[in-house]
Amino acid sequence: MKPTSISRRAFNAALLSSPLILRGAPGSQTTRVKIDTDRKIGEIDPKIYGNFAEHLGRCIEGGIFEEGSPRSDPQGYRKDVIEAVRNLHVGLLRWPGGNFSSNYHWMDGIGPRNDRPKRLEMAWHTIEDNRFGTHEFLDYVEMLAIEPYVCANFGTGTWLEAQQWVEYCNLDQDTAMTQLRKKNGRDEPWNVKYWSLGNEMDGPWQMGHRSADDYGKFALEGAKLMKWTDPTIKLVAAGSSNYNPNADWVGWNRTVLTYLKNHADYLSMHLYVGNPKDNFESFLASSLNLADKIETAEGTIRGVMTGEPKRTIYIAWDEWNVWYRARGQGKESGRRILEEHYNLEDALVIATLLNTFVNHCHIVKIANLAQLVNVIAPIFTNKQGLFLQTIYYPLQLFAMNSRGYGLELYVDGPSYSTAEYSKVPMLDVSAAYDNGQLVLNVVNRSRTDALSADFELEDKQFCSEFEVAEVNGPDIKAENDFGKTLVKAERKSASASGNRLQYTFPAHSYTMLKGRVS
Ligand code: AHR
Repeated sequence: MKPTSISRRAFNAALLSSPLILRGAPGSQTTRVKIDTDRKIGEIDPKIYGNFAEHLGRCIEGGIFEEGSPRSDPQGYRKDVIEAVRNLHVGLLRWPGGNFSSNYHWMDGIGPRNDRPKRLEMAWHTIEDNRFGTHEFLDYVEMLAIEPYVCANFGTGTWLEAQQWVEYCNLDQDTAMTQLRKKNGRDEPWNVKYWSLGNEMDGPWQMGHRSADDYGKFALEGAKLMKWTDPTIKLVAAGSSNYNPNADWVGWNRTVLTYLKNHADYLSMHLYVGNPKDNFESFLASSLNLADKIETAEGTIRGVMTGEPKRTIYIAWDEWNVWYRARGQGKESGRRILEEHYNLEDALVIATLLNTFVNHCHIVKIANLAQLVNVIAPIFTNKQGLFLQTIYYPLQLFAMNSRGYGLELYVDGPSYSTAEYSKVPMLDVSAAYDNGQLVLNVVNRSRTDALSADFELEDKQFCSEFEVAEVNGPDIKAENDFGKTLVKAERKSASASGNRLQYTFPAHSYTMLKGRVS
C-alpha cells in the first residue's frame, strides 16, 4: 500500500484544528505563578469597571427606563434594574451613545417631558422621543452613586453645543445656560467630569465621519471651548474602532493625538470579539488581540507625547464586549436589536478581557462594557422581570474584588496555538493587591481538562483561607434565561500554607481566589 501523502499546508491546517497542543515545562501540566506584591503594574482605576447606556433598542427604553410599568418608580426608572445595576458595582456610566450620540442634540432632551420633540433617529433607525435626557441620566447615576461620562456630538453637532452642554451641567455662575438648568428643576451643578469628543469618528458608519486630520482639527476647537468652560473636566479623544484591513487604525490614533495632545486626557478605543466560526480555542484567545492593541496604542501615545513629560494620556477602552450573533451589518432597526443571549464561553472570554485590563492597568484607566441592559448586556429584561446573563458574574466579581494594584506575575505553564497565535496560555491569570488582600483571577481555557496551578508568594506568606468563587456551567454553550440559571458564581474555598497555594481549576471555568497575605 502506498503511504498517504499530505501537503505541508494541509498538514498545518490539520494540526491547528486538531486537539490542543500543550506546551510548558517538560512533563508538567501545572502552571507555576510567582507573585511579588512589590511588583506593581499600576493602580487599578475603578473606572475600568465601567458600563454604557445608549439610546439603542431596549437599553434605555424598556431597560433602565419604563414609564408606567408597575416595576418602575414614579420617575420611570425600573426598580429591578436599579438593584441589578447596583449589585454590578459599575464604576462609570457612559451615555447617550455610541453611534446615537453623533446626531443627538441635547437640548431636545430637557424641559417638560411632554414638550420634547420626537426626532428621526438615524443610527438605529427608530424615533427618539427624548423622554430620557440629561436630567434623567444624571439623576439616575447620582441615585446609584456612579460617575457619569457623557459623549458629546462631534458628528452633526457644533462646538457651541458641546460647550453649552458642559456649561449647563457644570457651571455655578449665573448664565443663560445655568438659568435654564434651574428652570428645569436642578439648582446645583452635577459636575460631570468625563466627556468624550465624539464616538467612533474613524468609522464610515458614523454620522459625521471624517478623516483623522479633519476630526483632529474639529475636535481640538471643541476641546478648547469645553475646557475653557470648565478646566476641571477630563476629555476623551475618539481613537480607533475601525480595524478593517484597509483602515489604518494606528495612523488614526497618531494623527488624532498629534492634534489633541495638549487637550485630551484619554484616547478612546473600542473592540468587539466573537465566535462566528464556532472555534472555542480561538475565541478564548481573543484577549491576546486586546493586549496587542493596548500595547500598540500605548506605544503610539508615548511616541506622540515625547517631549511632553508633564502630560499623561491614558486609554479609555470605552466599548468592549462579545458581539457577533445579534449583528446585522448596519441594517439593525426597531426596538429588539443587539439582544445577544450569552453563554458560558462568552463569560470566560469576558473574564480574560478583564484580566487584560488589570494586566495593563498602568495605561487603561477607563473601560466600559457595552452595554448595560438588553443591548449586548449582562442584564436582560422583559415586562415582568429580568434575568442575569452569564457575563454578569465575571463582571461583578472583578468589580467587587479586583481593586488596588495590578501585579506583574511570572506565569509558566502549558499553552496552545491557534491560527492567529502561537502561544496561548491554558491558564489566563491576573492578580490584584490591596493593602494585604490578594485577589487572583484565573480562566482555564481548556474545554476538557482540569488544570492545576502552583502559586508561590515571593515576599509574603499566605495568612488565611482563600475565598473562592467559580463561574462555570454544565457545558460551554450553557445559557441563562428567565427562570433558568445554568451559569453563575459558586462559592468554594482553598487553603494555603506558608508561601504556597495549590489549586486545580475545572475545565472551562473562571475562578476568583481572595485572601490575606502578610
Ligand atoms: O455598542 C453598540 C455600537 O457599537 C455603538 O453604538 C457604536 O459606538 C459601536 O459601533
